[in-house]
Amino acid sequence: MKKRMAKVTGIALVAAMVIGLAACGSSNGGTADAGADAAASAGTEAAASGEIQLAEDGKLHMATNAAFPPYEMTTDDGGYEGIDVEIATAIADKLGLELVVDDMDFSATIAAVQSGKSDMVMAGMTVTPERQENIDFSDTYANAIQVVIVPEDSDIQTIDDLANDKMIGCQEGTTGYIYCSDTPENGGYGEDHVLSYTNGAMAVQALLGGKVDAVVIDNEPAKAFVEANEGLRILDTEFANEDYAIGIAKGNDALMEAVNGALQELIADGTVQSIVDKYIVSE
Ligand code: ARG
Repeated sequence: MKKRMAKVTGIALVAAMVIGLAACGSSNGGTADAGADAAASAGTEAAASGEIQLAEDGKLHMATNAAFPPYEMTTDDGGYEGIDVEIATAIADKLGLELVVDDMDFSATIAAVQSGKSDMVMAGMTVTPERQENIDFSDTYANAIQVVIVPEDSDIQTIDDLANDKMIGCQEGTTGYIYCSDTPENGGYGEDHVLSYTNGAMAVQALLGGKVDAVVIDNEPAKAFVEANEGLRILDTEFANEDYAIGIAKGNDALMEAVNGALQELIADGTVQSIVDKYIVSE
């Protein structure tokens, strides 16, 4: 049953890819660099055979940073859970594959996919034009907002107050870091005012220890961290609106088609929503 589905997907792919690649060629033509060209021709081969390229036979390797509740976190018995982990498991199931979580620093996830060590990155990763130069993104499966966590007694009331010589903690390599460390002309606070931490939990520890005055991070992890630690609150003013998607190596279009196909089915039949509802209790 599962196997048959995978095959059908594969055949549908070949047609979809020819169209996809043609569109790609015309829009990227002038600007593609040598690396992108090589990746594109690898994609042509995959298209011809309609085969999904995987790091390991029968497995779907997901690069993530499992310190980002409720999207990905570790369990007491050394396993992984969270919205991304469960959606990825459901996608793997549909493709007849076994999900393997590759836990690493968030800033290492894109390279893991580019090098083929992992098949996809699913890490509450925001789609940005810069990242799209390095990997392709699936359809969006969640929306997020960057928010600001401060100590309850902080004099920081709005995001404008962050400009008053404050130190901001962020997770390294994230959109929160990218926005905050940008120049004031571009809406940031300048690199000198931002400290980056390996993950969100460490940034929150720095906030609790008084090493930074605020932490800028995605809204759902922010809620989870504020719930787990006393004396913190989230500012009402929001920072940025973002979309999460799954990142896949450029050229692995067969995998992209298969993942998008599975994701759309899981959205349509309510599976994605029920996974989200399990982890996020709506107010
Ligand atoms: N959405 C932010 C970004 O894409 C933060 C994601 C961090 N994810 C994680 N699993 N630590 O930059």
